[in-house]
Amino acid sequence: MPQYYARHIFFCLNERKAGEDSCALHDAQSAFDHCKSRVKKEGLAGPGKVRVNKAGCLDRCAGGPVAVVYPEGTWYSFVDKADIDEIVDSHLKRGEVVERLVLPPDVGR
Ligand code: FES
Repeated sequence: MPQYYARHIFFCLNERKAGEDSCALHDAQSAFDHCKSRVKKEGLAGPGKVRVNKAGCLDRCAGGPVAVVYPEGTWYSFVDKADIDEIVDSHLKRGEVVERLVLPPDVGR
């Protein structure tokens, strides 16, 4: 049975209290906005295609800002809009993981 979305990307936009480092402090909101607009512009958004969603803390704050793509379960740590463009063009469009941005498996909170 086909999945409702072929790919789903979640961006942590969380700001941790008590001054702890968090994705929100690394401008995760701009990355999310940029991804959403690129996906729309490329005609990738919608059922059977791609969905871009906000998320709370994904508990991998030490690698922040982070995003995760399903169904592959590929975790990314990104720096700027060029990184987001590469995730959109390579992974969300063609299903090719952007290896240089993959979050190492041992990065947690
Ligand atoms: S604040 Fe983003 S993963 Fe925890």
